[in-house]
This record gives sequence, C-alpha cells and structure tokens, in this order.
Amino acid sequence: MNERINPRAVEAVVARLPEPDADARQHSLKLVSLIRDEIAAAGGRIPFDRYMELALYAPGLGYYTAGARKFGGSGDFVTAPEVSPLFARCLAQQCREVLDNLEGGAILEVGAGSGILAADLLLELERLDCLPERYLILDLSPELQQRQRRTLSRCAPHLLQRVAWLGAFPETAFSGVVIANELLDAMPVHRFRLSAGSLLEQFVSWNGEQFALGWAEPASPDFAKQLAGPLGRLDGMDDYESEINLRAAPWLDALAGSLAQGAVLLIDYGYSRAEYYHPARSRGTLMCHYRHRAHADPLVYPGLQDITAHVDFTAIAEAAQSAGFQVAGYTTQAFFLMGSGLERQVARSDADDAAAHLALVQGVKRLTLPTEMGERFKVLGLTRSWDRPLCGFAMRDLRERL
Ligand SMILES: C[S@@+](CC[C@H](N)C(=O)[O-])C[C@H]1O[C@@H](n2cnc3c(N)ncnc32)[C@H](O)[C@@H]1O
Repeated sequence: MNERINPRAVEAVVARLPEPDADARQHSLKLVSLIRDEIAAAGGRIPFDRYMELALYAPGLGYYTAGARKFGGSGDFVTAPEVSPLFARCLAQQCREVLDNLEGGAILEVGAGSGILAADLLLELERLDCLPERYLILDLSPELQQRQRRTLSRCAPHLLQRVAWLGAFPETAFSGVVIANELLDAMPVHRFRLSAGSLLEQFVSWNGEQFALGWAEPASPDFAKQLAGPLGRLDGMDDYESEINLRAAPWLDALAGSLAQGAVLLIDYGYSRAEYYHPARSRGTLMCHYRHRAHADPLVYPGLQDITAHVDFTAIAEAAQSAGFQVAGYTTQAFFLMGSGLERQVARSDADDAAAHLALVQGVKRLTLPTEMGERFKVLGLTRSWDRPLCGFAMRDLRERL
C-alpha cells in the first residue's frame, strides 16, 4: 500500500512543478474565469466532479479539449500504446480472435488519445489479414479527433478510409470489439469524506483569490445510496477520504445499447473494491500529472494538468452486468499481453537490428514489469451474446478478486 500520499511530499512536488509559459498561463486563466462564473451562478460552490469535468473537458479550454500536448515524452504522461507498438499488436490478436469468430465486424475505440493505438492496431490486423470492416472512434475531444486523423494519415494513410469518427455511440447496434485504454480513469469523480460518523462531499469554491476545496453535506440526497459499494467496506472508518466514479454505469448502459455481439476490453490502472477502499488508502487515489510530475492537487494550473483517479473494477463489473454484459475476464496487463501472444511478437523481432530489438525489449519491460505498468494496469473483458473464452485471459484470470 505505498500510494498513500504524504502531504509534505505533495507540497514539495507542487513547488517543483515547471512554470507554464505566458500563453499557457493565459489559457489557464480563461478556464479559471469560466469555472469561477459557474461557481458564482451555482451560489458559491460546485461539486468536485463538476470542477473536474470543466478542468478536463470545458469546450475549447479543458485539458483534453484544448491544445495541451498531453501524451508522450514532451507531454504530461505516457500511456501503453505510446510506450510500444507491442501493446497494439497484442490487442490485435484478441481482436482477431473475436472478429474471426464473428466472421467480420467493427472495432470501436473510445477515447483514442493521439490515435497511435488505432494506427498500430490497424496495421497489425492488416498483416494478419483480418481488417475490421470499420474502425470507429468516439472521443469527447475535437482537438484529439484532429490529432488522431493526423496520426492515421501519417502512419496508415491507406487504411484511413475505414476509420470514422462518431459524435455518440452508434445508434444501430454493431458486432465486434470495443476498446478503451485509460478512458475510465479520465472520467470525472465525486469525492467523499467519512468524518465523525457523517458522510460529506467535496466542493470547490472561490475564496476571492483562488479555488478552494471544502467538505459539506452531499448535494444529492441519494449520495449515500450511490456510495453503497464503498460504504459497505468502510464501516466505522473515520477521517477517510476517497472518490467514486458515478459516470461509468450510465456509460456502460449506453455502450450496451450499441454492441449487439462481441467483446469489450477496458484497460486501466485500478483495483478490486476491497483493495481500492482499503483502510490504508485513506486519501483516495486522485492524481494529477503535469510534465511527468505526479502530485495530488487538482487546483493547480486548471486546464494545463491531467486529473485522474484509479478505477474500482468491482464497480465496473457490477455495472456492466446490470447493463447486460457478461464479465468474461479480469487480469493484469502483463498477463493479458502474454495471453495475447507477446512472446511471439518478440520472437518476430530481428535480433541483428540491435536498435530495434533493444527498443522492443525495453517496451516489453515497461508494459509488463510489476514495477512499471504490468500489475498496476488491469484488463476487464466484457462480452455480449458471446460464450467463447478470450485469449487475453487464458494465462491468468483474476475474476475471483472482483
Ligand atoms: C487518458 S486519455 C487516454 C488516451 C488513449 N486511449 C491512450 O491510451 O493513449 C483519455 C481519452 O479519453 C477521451 N475521453 C474521456 N472521456 C470520454 C468519453 N466519455 N467518451 C469518449 N472519449 C472520452 C479523452 O478525450 C482522451 O482521448
């Protein structure tokens, strides 16, 4: 349990954050002004999840919806598809298994980031002679949609005509595979606190100079009911803070209406409920990323830094079942990639091309080592009208932990 955040360490990290340039500061100030106006209109405070939604997705100003670099070495954080094409090539094996059995179908990627996963996945499926009829992308961010189009035009121009960008889940249900890598962690969360027998919710206000966080009676009378899962594990806890994602269940309901048959792969950092709402994790999992520095202050540089929370995979599995999915598998990223042919991918590498081989080996390490992304990241497999096993969960299935 080494993720409990030491407040002194956080202050020190915040003090060491690189200074944004003048343009970035100007941009952040515009978003601050928009959030301040909303706080004023709401009577002096907004729930934390609304603050997070505006900070990340306010049209034209939020972290994801404006021009921040975000991914990669010159951005704020690195995701698995950016680390190595091996990630996409292994996912392609899992897609092939489903698409072959369906004798066709589409892929829908939700939250496609820079578009590199789409490009590498399509190139690998082309090599395997198993291209999907269509590759659909649904992303909230118009800025990222443009970036995805540029990536695909650069890396796989001949496959671009198969790709379509959607504004919402398809109205006509399709068959195939849905992929979402690091989507759930980017959904706004509500923050709660247990204190002296009371359940409180976190709000954001403006103190005349800057935003401030505070705890008060929950905004919704249903809050305790919505928190039934975590609260069931936190009986008698005091001075305990955490968060809950209340947007994932409606999202899964909407997704269920769009997938007639096939599989959904949700890949993210997170835990089972018992590990997530553990007594030792008494300050929750909220994290912010700015130029590869991680800290826990969501009020710093609004619009310039990422704000994220780990995923409670038990809650996602329960919501998926309520939406009509079967939970087909749950495992670590390392086991999923191994089950999806990681070794075969490495064996294909030309050891005489020392630089390429070394890059591949480095990629394997970062994707699979427990100290890197191998164990912190999990894969949850959901299926609909599908009763075959999925290869990604063949090596080790940890569903009993959920
Ligand atoms: C942390 S990034 C991950 C990007 C990419 N999957 C990767 O692994 O590099 C989150 C992505 O999800 C998108 N996003 C967040 N919420 C969304 C939603 N409800 N529907 C569609 N896209 C969403 C963001 O715009 C962004 O592209």
